[in-house]
Amino acid sequence: MNIPPINLKAQFKGVRKDVLKGIREILNEQKLILGRYCQELEGEVSSMTGAAHAISCANGTDALILSLMALGIGQGDEVVTTPYTFFSTASSIALVGARPVFADIGDSDMNIDPAKVEEAITPKTRAIIVVHLFGRICDMKRILAIAEKHGVAVVEDMAQALGARRGGAAAGTFGDIAATSFYPTKNLGGIGEGGMVLTRRPDLGEKVRKLRVHGMGEKPYIHETIGFNSRLDEIKALALCVKLKRLASWNRTRLETAGYYNMHLRDLPLVLPAIDDETSHIFHHYVVRTVRRDALQLHLKEKGIMTGIYYPLPLHLQPCFSYLGLKEGDLPIAEEAARTSLAIPVFPELKKKEKDYIIQSIRSFFEKQDEDSENDQ
Ligand SMILES: Cc1ncc(COP(=O)(O)O)c(C=O)c1O
Repeated sequence: MNIPPINLKAQFKGVRKDVLKGIREILNEQKLILGRYCQELEGEVSSMTGAAHAISCANGTDALILSLMALGIGQGDEVVTTPYTFFSTASSIALVGARPVFADIGDSDMNIDPAKVEEAITPKTRAIIVVHLFGRICDMKRILAIAEKHGVAVVEDMAQALGARRGGAAAGTFGDIAATSFYPTKNLGGIGEGGMVLTRRPDLGEKVRKLRVHGMGEKPYIHETIGFNSRLDEIKALALCVKLKRLASWNRTRLETAGYYNMHLRDLPLVLPAIDDETSHIFHHYVVRTVRRDALQLHLKEKGIMTGIYYPLPLHLQPCFSYLGLKEGDLPIAEEAARTSLAIPVFPELKKKEKDYIIQSIRSFFEKQDEDSENDQ
């Protein structure tokens, strides 16, 4: 069997007809950028999440930068965030001229640890960027209480969590502003780059709308502020509108697959992701942890199963952030996660026999290890 980490070709088969029909219409009409499909997408995401303002943009990294710019964050400011995430959560902070301050993650969910956030806050802190990693929403009750106590803004990086909920509320509605990505491998993945900013605050929504079009307001070619070009194409928005109709069902299937894996792997020496009633996890990635991670990955590769490592080097140890003066050992839980995490395929198009084969292959790895250690004795 050959099982890829994600199967975009299989996904496309289900939406092909509608996407191609829409593309033909757009090409005939020649309204190519920020048109009715962008509006439809913004409206649908807004009603799905409950975030009053949804503003599409060119990619998830831009969505983070636009969010920070709208909050007025820049030179001399500090922003607390997690070291265990995709690079642009932190690069966006540096790109607006501020200083990323890393707070370690919690061992149970690999999301930023609220207690560590509070320790990292200084008089220069202007915001906290939380990341709902792998599709599980952070402990927002505690994060919001800390933010309120210290008078700092909360940005949600929800690039991996569109459709996830916690205590009934959707990702993107907890903080002041939120950024998401439609990169093709995301749960709602486009046919190219794409992103969106969500906010309940009208002041921030208005700023982001201007910033994504060079700071232009209602009047053409009058620039009220210095923004940049971060517009979304109609063809990409159309494909996202078609796929959005299937997102809830895809997310549900991912959660069911995760539950199935957990049930069949629970007796193995692996740390499995928690599934509980409070958070509706959308399993962008299904990540297990083991000190034998590299050997398990190789074993699965030999069986034709492709896995992923998210992320092999925490951000505080990246060469580009050496100016922050952090070293190995400073954020031990993130470092441990980087050494032990392995993402097992969990995409919605997986067939039952493929899931069973994955389970069987993981089990055979540990059985072989047991046999080897018995033979050594
Ligand atoms: C957590 C997180 N933040 C930000 C991004 C950046 O999004 P993009 O690749 O669309 O710029 C991604 C995805 O790549 C991500 O996973």
